Amino acid sequence: MHFAPNASNDTRHWPGTVWITGLSGAGKTTLSHTLRKRMLAAGHPVLLLDGDEMRAGLNRDLGFSPEDRTENIRRAAEVARLANRSGLWVVAAFISPLRSQRQQAREIIGGDAFLEVFLSASFAVCAQRDAKGLYAKASAGQISQFTGLSAPYETPLAPDLAIDTEVVGPELAADSIYAALAVRLSPA
Ligand code: ADX
Repeated sequence: MHFAPNASNDTRHWPGTVWITGLSGAGKTTLSHTLRKRMLAAGHPVLLLDGDEMRAGLNRDLGFSPEDRTENIRRAAEVARLANRSGLWVVAAFISPLRSQRQQAREIIGGDAFLEVFLSASFAVCAQRDAKGLYAKASAGQISQFTGLSAPYETPLAPDLAIDTEVVGPELAADSIYAALAVRLSPA
């Protein structure tokens, strides 16, 4: 296992970005905190980028139209790229509903430094959890362009990792991501 950046141009040795995609309520934020703790404990500093937090600050000018979501993802990916190049790992938690948006993030960050993790909890389960009360509001017509209801979520076709948070808890999910990082980003 070799997570530290080095002086060569071999991007496999640079820190990378774990990009967590899935519906609102799929468990992205919880998992990102658990993974961050796990990586910190192993000596790897991590920058967390979370949709709700980014939208409260850096991206507060953006809404939920497809164009605004694409811009939200683009900015997040640019920040992730800068952080990676500065020696920081990034864990990014965004719905990032369209394949083209995730592809754009992969291109900005660099394919060798990008691990796409799909949290596959179903709409029905996320709606049942409804931790923020948004599903209730959306189904009452109070939130427009709500992902999975009135706006699309395109399931990843070939994620690096798919985790079903209906059956796998955050600790186990963080373990499997950590293991995938070791395989993917360690020197050949
Ligand atoms: S993304 O689609 O642009 O990637 P992002 O992850 O930043 O979305 O933000 C999603 C969060 O915004 C949700 O977890 C939820 O708290 C909130 N939210 C508010 N309105 C919507 C909406 N119409 N669709 C989805 N999430 C929304």
